[in-house]
Amino acid sequence: MAGDKKLIIGNWKMNLGVHESSLHLHKLADSVKTHRNVEVVLAPTMLALQTLSLQVNHRQFKLAAQNFYWRDHGAYTGEVSATQLRGIVSYGLVGHSERRHVFHESDKDTRAKVQAAIRNGIRPVLCVGETASERAAGETRDVLHDQLIGGLANITSDELPEVIVAYEPVWAIGTGNNALPTDVTEAIVSIRSQLKHLYGAKAANAVQVLYGGSVTADSAADYLALHEVDGLLVGGASLDAHAFTTIVEKAFQSAKGDA
Ligand code: PGA
Repeated sequence: MAGDKKLIIGNWKMNLGVHESSLHLHKLADSVKTHRNVEVVLAPTMLALQTLSLQVNHRQFKLAAQNFYWRDHGAYTGEVSATQLRGIVSYGLVGHSERRHVFHESDKDTRAKVQAAIRNGIRPVLCVGETASERAAGETRDVLHDQLIGGLANITSDELPEVIVAYEPVWAIGTGNNALPTDVTEAIVSIRSQLKHLYGAKAANAVQVLYGGSVTADSAADYLALHEVDGLLVGGASLDAHAFTTIVEKAFQSAKGDA
């Protein structure tokens, strides 16, 4: 694992309006404790980012964009750039499976977005993961390899530690069908060895690697106990204040164990 700090990211996806997001943040602010060795990141709808950035205690929570466009400005109707998000968010999700599969984003898009995030002082969270059929065909390693190379092609070894990689098997996202800890270990070992191959051990070991896919308050500890896992990307359970608070506490317990 990279460092002794666990990273817990809550991806609210296309749920909650501005007012509801604000209320949810209030609830979380009351229940989530701040721990030195846990970084908690919230990814609300784009629409609520500005409001939440004024409301949030930045020592308690950081904010993330669920998506952004890779050009800095110009005639791109309807898009929001990393430059525009600068100062509002600390992190940006890139290549989430819903972006890849519903919106047909390619490795070329993810590569440009990873670069745009770094250029704008935002830490990209590059999501990678195989589909059920790729897994059944024994292609997991190759898929992870292609998505890593595709997403990171323009990144230098100095920039690499700014990148976070999230292993999110597509079949585990939003399905309740979470991956077994042994599968997660295997996939993350493979991700880290590919990063080492590309960038050398020092830079590769500095990259935080997360697991995501149907994580719940009950299953979180099983993943956090894995030496390979530096944190979690949580979708559905992040909309439940009690569940998300429990997940952060589990991260604290596991980080304490590592220290
Ligand atoms: P889930 O989503 O926890 O609802 O499976 C995870 C994600 O999409 O990052």
